[in-house]
Amino acid sequence: MALERTFSIIKPDATRRNLTGAINAKFEEAGLRIVAQKRIHLTKAQAGVFYAVHAERPFYDELCDFMASAPIVCQVLEGENAITKNREVMGATNPADAAPGTIRAEFAQCVGENSVHGSDAPETAAEEIAYFFSGLELVG
Ligand code: CDP
Ligand code: MG
Repeated sequence: MALERTFSIIKPDATRRNLTGAINAKFEEAGLRIVAQKRIHLTKAQAGVFYAVHAERPFYDELCDFMASAPIVCQVLEGENAITKNREVMGATNPADAAPGTIRAEFAQCVGENSVHGSDAPETAAEEIAYFFSGLELVG
C-alpha cells in the first residue's frame, strides 16, 4: 500500500445542484483526505487543454462546453492507493453502469454530466495536479 495523491474535479452539473459537500463526504468516508481544493470557472480553452486526450472523440466539443458552463471544484485527494480508491468511489463513467453507493450512481445525470473527474494513473495524476495547483497550495 502506498500513500498517493490524485486529482479530482467536482463538475458543473454537481456544483450547480449544490452537491459539493455531499460529494466531499463520499471521499472522506472512503478515507480520502482533501489536501487541496479550490472553486474556479474554466474557460472553454482551458477545458480543452485539460481534456486534450479526448480531442478526437465525438463528444469533445460538448464536453468542453459543459466543463466551462459553471464553476468547478478542483481538488487533490490523498490516501492509500488514492488513484484506484477514488475511481472506485466515483463509479463507472456512465451512471447507468455505476455500482450502487458510488458518486456517479447517486448523483450523475448522464454519461456526459457525470458529476466528477478522477485521474486514471500516477502519470496523469501528477500532470493534472500540476495544471491546477502550484506547489505552495499543496500543504498536505
Ligand atoms: O471520466 P472518466 O475517466 O470516467 O471517463 P473518460 O472516458 O476519461 O471520459 C472523460 C469524460 O468525457 C467523461 O467523464 C464524460 O464527462 C465525458 N464522456 C462523454 O461525454 N461521453 C462519452 N461517451 C464518454 C465520456
Ligand atoms: Mg478519464
